[in-house]
Amino acid sequence: MPTQIYNSIEEEIRSLKRERNAVILAHNYQSGEVQDIADFTGDSLGLSQKAQATDADVIVFCGVHFMAETASILCPDKKVLIPDLNAGCSLAGMIKAEDVRKWKSAHPLGAVVAYVNTSAEVKAESDYCCTSTNAVQVVEHIPRDQEVLFVPDFYLGTYVQRVTGRNNITLWNGYCHVHEMITSEQINQLKARHPNAELLMHPECGCLTKSMHVADRILSTEGMVKYVGESSAKEFIVATEIGILHRMERDFPNKRFIPAFPHAVCQYMKLNTLEKIVLSLECLQYEVKVPEPIRSRALVSIERMLAISSKSSAA
Ligand code: 13P
Ligand code: SF4
Repeated sequence: MPTQIYNSIEEEIRSLKRERNAVILAHNYQSGEVQDIADFTGDSLGLSQKAQATDADVIVFCGVHFMAETASILCPDKKVLIPDLNAGCSLAGMIKAEDVRKWKSAHPLGAVVAYVNTSAEVKAESDYCCTSTNAVQVVEHIPRDQEVLFVPDFYLGTYVQRVTGRNNITLWNGYCHVHEMITSEQINQLKARHPNAELLMHPECGCLTKSMHVADRILSTEGMVKYVGESSAKEFIVATEIGILHRMERDFPNKRFIPAFPHAVCQYMKLNTLEKIVLSLECLQYEVKVPEPIRSRALVSIERMLAISSKSSAA
């Protein structure tokens, strides 16, 4: 068979996608070219829901490893591929299943809420999973007098503590090295320079406690994109990883977006490239599969989250 010649790498990806009956899911922090070739771009919650809903045989997950794992937990019969196996997450690496087991043996009546940025093993030890979209709803679902261990993000956990007003939430001391770079000084300077801009902040930001009172909204990445579409403001200071600016500029070309810190780049997210997507589709690499019984145990915490999240969005 003669080798097929393509006019562009995008054309090659589209052709391979048809051949494999594949879908490409991309997180909002992916590079612009990866977002543009994807069938769906979104946040952790949206991507796992898309993975669950697709009838494709193959999911090329352009995000980081824990996201592909979540998709594989939800869709064990589909082939979930990640274009680069080194796409990890500093935050997810800050807690191990053993840490959760130790806390549970000391607090047998407590509930463990694991942010989705955790390994499948940690989710398997947890009672509930949550994302930045639904962390508050998930914790509010737990009886007020029941102790909670919130892992691993200290800042998201602090935000949940403040919003729910609960004083029985123990926080793990984890953080994301990218969101840690965003400081309240940078934010204050930008706010002074752009007085009409609205400040959108991701709850993982290291300056959350100092700056949450000046933020117009604290939202997940997809929550930010949605809010930009609803707001009458023309300028936004965006306190999160800068990949999201591509999505915002593409969807709202008449609005202006200012990164809170232009060097807030997640190098793990950027490991996925168009060339690696081609290889992923051609060689069906690298498959992410969660072994039993970890998968079924992790699924319980994810399904509880999805049920709480769908109940509150229906309300
Ligand atoms: P979102 O779920 O808000 O997209 O966040 C995921 C993430 O890894 C943020 O650093
Ligand atoms: Fe993990 Fe931070 Fe990258 Fe999000 S931005 S994937 S939390 S390292």
